[in-house]
Amino acid sequence: MEQSAEQSRSTQTNLATENSAKPTHSDQMVEAIDPSLAQPSSSKVKELKAADTEVPEVPEVPEGHLATSNRAIADQSAQSDQFDATLPTKSPSSVRMAKSIDSPTTNKWTIQDSEELYLINGWGEPYFSINEAGHVTVSPRGDRGGCIDLFDLVSDLRQRGLRLPLLLRFSDILADRIERLNACFARAIARYNYQGVYRGVYPVKVNQQKHLVAELTKFGQPFQFGLEAGSKPELLIAIATLKTPGALLICNGYKDREYVETAMLSQRLGKKPIIVLEQLEEVDLAIAAAQKLGIKPNLGVRAKLSSKGSGRWAESAGDRAKFGLHMWEILTVVEKLAAADLLDSLQLLHFHIGSQISAISTIKDALREAAQIYVQLAKIGANMQYIDVGGGLAVDYDGTKTNSAASKNYNMQNYAYDVVAEIKEACAEGKVEPPTIVSESGRAIASHQSILIFDVLGTSSRPQAGIEPLQPGEHLIIRNLFETLENINAQNYQEAYHDAIQFKGEAASLFGFGYLGLRERARVERLYWECCDRILKIVRQQEHVPDELSDLEISMAQTYYCNLSVFQSIPDNWAIGQMFPIMPIHRLNQEPSNRGTIADLTCDSDGHIKEFIARYSSKEILELHPFDKNDNDPYILGLFLGGAYQEILGDLHNLFGDTDTVHIHITHRGYKVEHVVKGDTMNEVLEYVQYSRGELLESMRRETEAALQEDAITIDEARLLLQNFEHSLDGYTYLSPT
Ligand SMILES: Cc1ncc(COP(=O)(O)O)c(C=O)c1O
Repeated sequence: MEQSAEQSRSTQTNLATENSAKPTHSDQMVEAIDPSLAQPSSSKVKELKAADTEVPEVPEVPEGHLATSNRAIADQSAQSDQFDATLPTKSPSSVRMAKSIDSPTTNKWTIQDSEELYLINGWGEPYFSINEAGHVTVSPRGDRGGCIDLFDLVSDLRQRGLRLPLLLRFSDILADRIERLNACFARAIARYNYQGVYRGVYPVKVNQQKHLVAELTKFGQPFQFGLEAGSKPELLIAIATLKTPGALLICNGYKDREYVETAMLSQRLGKKPIIVLEQLEEVDLAIAAAQKLGIKPNLGVRAKLSSKGSGRWAESAGDRAKFGLHMWEILTVVEKLAAADLLDSLQLLHFHIGSQISAISTIKDALREAAQIYVQLAKIGANMQYIDVGGGLAVDYDGTKTNSAASKNYNMQNYAYDVVAEIKEACAEGKVEPPTIVSESGRAIASHQSILIFDVLGTSSRPQAGIEPLQPGEHLIIRNLFETLENINAQNYQEAYHDAIQFKGEAASLFGFGYLGLRERARVERLYWECCDRILKIVRQQEHVPDELSDLEISMAQTYYCNLSVFQSIPDNWAIGQMFPIMPIHRLNQEPSNRGTIADLTCDSDGHIKEFIARYSSKEILELHPFDKNDNDPYILGLFLGGAYQEILGDLHNLFGDTDTVHIHITHRGYKVEHVVKGDTMNEVLEYVQYSRGELLESMRRETEAALQEDAITIDEARLLLQNFEHSLDGYTYLSPT
């Protein structure tokens, strides 16, 4: 039954904003078609694996028929980005202790405990899960079959000579994201009987890597998915890569004459560039280029909305935003284009209120304002055909489905419903033809496809367990600590903690005045840590942790030294404190009984991850397994959802370069390595800072020769030094196992 615009609006408002929303008729139908969508992901993956389900072919869709043809895909996949309306808004209060782990003595650890602890079902759905072996699995096609054991995959790749840290890219996840986004819009268009179509574009800035952009345009072909360029170099990538007939090439960012002319001339190659005017001067450039080349361009304007974004990128919108035109400037553009007889070139209205918009209400406010501007532009004679809603569609990094900075309180389908419904309503009221809807979702498309795999190299040392018995004549402070240690129990642990702190402080003072020797001070330290260890075991079993003990877990945490560079691989963690899900990819059927933070290889205290996702707020420590350096098996962690922005923002701090990257494609027999992109060698990173391999080697050879002449080095030592030096130049910038 057809709904009126008014009815449509109220339905979608309920879905996206009211926590008490009931599923609508069509939602229930989808659930009935695929009951597995309501089950936890781990069981889903197992079922699909058993059935070895085929991924349905993406149908060829003629232009103009996307709305209806995509319904089939919509019905399969749109619901998997599920929205749990019953979850509360995330509490801002800091719950610092990870209390989710039971005492090892009371419960045997299960993979369900790991799922719960690392929240993988929240942020990982439908791609990541845990199997019975306690390994993370990847289902690159989501709910549609095929599953790879991530730990086994990494072991295979290492046997093939690939090194850690290693960036894995799953092409099928990329394809699935594009299908999902298009399916969600197709579903929204069908639901609201919207008379326009959807044409998404991928903003190249999010991840410009050649193989990724090439795959993206290939997977996007059935949907006429286009590209967005935000700079001149990105324009060159976009023009040269995008060959899909009818797909849009949105030209954003600062422009000069060459940018504008190149974009316009690409029309002659059958491309569909739309030059979005973001600065007032650009209208003169566009008019001049159009007149010089005799081309009728496709133009757009980026509006500076007064509705503000939220969170870290709030400044991308609002009156003081860096980009976009005020209303008076948009009117000036209209007047100038009219005077140059080019008003019918003005076809698109664009806005972008920032990335990772966690609250659906913020998106709706912006849509409402932008849709009105669109209607007004159409009414004053511009040839309006497109509304480009920019990026902002958020990723649920912590899996909590809340409006916290690392999450979002809506799903992809809610987003599509709101975009379509707002635009439909404004156009219907303004009696204006509904436009083609364009979105520039980057994060939501590129984040899930990559996983950074890295190994633990060591941990900060803690006094070994086992305390020597008390000897006659030991210092009073040692005797006191001993007595404290021996008497710790669930009744007095709080008092014991205060005593232990006091004795440790007194020991430090006595040491300072020379009344305590180094051995005695070391014995005090061991006793103190042993007390803390015992107290912590009791604390973990308490329902309410006394305030003064809430930091004990953090102060007892170990540092896990890992083979990665935060600055190279997760720069947003360092720069803006963005959290990504991090967890071991194996041993998940064993209790992660240690607590740790993650330090990288750089000699910079900022290269230290000290905040992790958690169900409520965040936590300052991550539950990890004990690590033994002498163990032959590596301890491997994965950093997930880092496929957007991180690779290109990464820098060469301490000269740690790009990691090896592997593109994995799922096949009936398992997987196939599609591309291997070798990471930087030391030689390459040294060249970035103008050192030449030849000069470095020659300098070392001369110095070694001089040392040989003076008998300061033996021939064997000289050979080893030069061999190591040369070998390192050709080697990986990260550490390799000895
Ligand atoms: C103009 C524009 N469009 C699209 C995007 C992509 O945004 P997101 O990654 O949030 O989808 C950005 C990034 O901030 C942007 O500046």
